Amino acid sequence: MALYAIGDLHLSLTTNKPMDIFGPGWTDHVRRLEEAFSRLEEEDLTVLCGDTSWGIDFAGSLEDFRFIDRLPGKKLILKGNHDYWWNTAAKMKKFFADNAITTIDILHNNCRFYGEYALCGTRGWFYEEEQSGHNEKVLHREVGRLETSLKAAEGRPILAFLHYPPLYTGYRCPEILQKLEEYQVRRCFYGHLHGPTHRRAIEGTVGSVDYRLVSADYLQFVPKKILD
Ligand SMILES: [Fe+2]
Ligand SMILES: [Fe+2]
Repeated sequence: MALYAIGDLHLSLTTNKPMDIFGPGWTDHVRRLEEAFSRLEEEDLTVLCGDTSWGIDFAGSLEDFRFIDRLPGKKLILKGNHDYWWNTAAKMKKFFADNAITTIDILHNNCRFYGEYALCGTRGWFYEEEQSGHNEKVLHREVGRLETSLKAAEGRPILAFLHYPPLYTGYRCPEILQKLEEYQVRRCFYGHLHGPTHRRAIEGTVGSVDYRLVSADYLQFVPKKILD
């Protein structure tokens, strides 16, 4: 049994939005994901850190979720800024059940236990949100969701998963960083950064948390093993 993380699969098997327009790094990315996942086993768990499907609703994302469901192992998904298909937990669970999708669960206002660890997370906040007109209310909602998830760990050691980087060259989100420190998060994995922005990613220990970027193109579409 092993734990993996990867973000930003950016699938579009129904909507047909080719990702190789974002550069040669994305060429053939669906096949490469399939090949990398084929080395995983059924009892493994992969956390998918947002931007999973380009579909704008359930119908538009169904083939993407069927693809994910066919990949070996269980998957835990959190919300990215492009997941327009995202809905209430009850509706998402019904959508999966109605379509016989059995390997996908949701990380949102909750946490999942993995061995002695708690897996916590939410979408998070990034400066781009401010640029697109989002306000303090949205930031505080995200911080609240993160705290709800961290509290659900009930004292277990925490691995946190965010879509947005809480820190970046020239940027910090103090409200999110403070919560990660307060709840003594050991390791934090995030996605969202693509192509040339990888250069500005911050990895390694900052404060008492170890940060790692796991966006799919950064990992060359190979899920990162976090725990055995
Ligand atoms: Fe994103
Ligand atoms: Fe993305």
